[in-house]
Amino acid sequence: MTPDPWAEWLFTNRHGIESIDHMHDALIPIRDRVVDGAAITPGDTLLDVGTGDGLIGLEAAHYVGPHGRVIFSDICLDCLDYCADMAAGLPPAVETVHTGLPDLAAIDDESADVVTLRSVLVYVADRAGALRNIYRVLKPGGRLSLYEPLPQAEPPGRFEGYNAAPVAALAERVKQQLAPTPAMLAFSAERLIEAARAAGFRTVNLQQAIRIDEQHAAPDVRGDPWEVFLSVAPHPLTPTIGEAIGAALTPVEAEAFTTHLRPLVRTGQRLIRQQSLYLQANR
Ligand SMILES: C[S@@+](CC[C@H](N)C(=O)[O-])C[C@H]1O[C@@H](n2cnc3c(N)ncnc32)[C@H](O)[C@@H]1O
Repeated sequence: MTPDPWAEWLFTNRHGIESIDHMHDALIPIRDRVVDGAAITPGDTLLDVGTGDGLIGLEAAHYVGPHGRVIFSDICLDCLDYCADMAAGLPPAVETVHTGLPDLAAIDDESADVVTLRSVLVYVADRAGALRNIYRVLKPGGRLSLYEPLPQAEPPGRFEGYNAAPVAALAERVKQQLAPTPAMLAFSAERLIEAARAAGFRTVNLQQAIRIDEQHAAPDVRGDPWEVFLSVAPHPLTPTIGEAIGAALTPVEAEAFTTHLRPLVRTGQRLIRQQSLYLQANR
């Protein structure tokens, strides 16, 4: 059976040969901010949309308590099975629902006190429709709390934050294999605010975050940083970096690209520039 592409990314290619726990640790501050922003109270019914491996929903379960309910929802059945296993024995009632944005067709109107999302809307082309249906499933007075990355096209001469100027033409060809889709690049804070307001949200509070991190130290990974680098897919539904190099370049070109990039990756000479946003809204 072909593995679900989302499950394949979440459980394998997102971290590659690096430990999944190590990768998860980096997400904890984001998870905690989304959960805080949801202002959960005991007894709430919380719907986590695009729950993946339950990063947000499993944490939120501790806040809704024994009289609350957590609905894990996703288009990925393998993800829902995983969450059901992980949630066994947690205090609240737990449900998994196979449904997706923009429609959330399997979720009743006005059935949730809280909706949470992390890194889901960016992959949905119809964000206005998604926000309308999130509004629909929230009870009057219900809360939405989300985090989304804002993918950027990398400038020429940069590859995954590394200086690739001496191999810029090769880098551009590899980047084509890994590029965010036009719909992902069209995501912006302004458009999200517009969509939330048009959906009917009464209050909308958005914080945009820009992180710049100039690194000069070997990355903190298990094993050879170059092998880890090759084993990772930077975005869902793309090949790994190693696969992208193999698909885009001839063996001779791949050798030239690797010879330039490998020492930079091993010694961590990297400039990270990431944009993201947090949004809380009330129906
Ligand atoms: C980047 S993962 C994030 C998973 C999880 N929310 C987290 O915080 O780690 C994106 C998730 O969104 C799900 N997804 C993708 N498109 C979706 C859609 N149209 N509706 C609902 N979920 C979707 C994927 O299956 C995947 O689980």
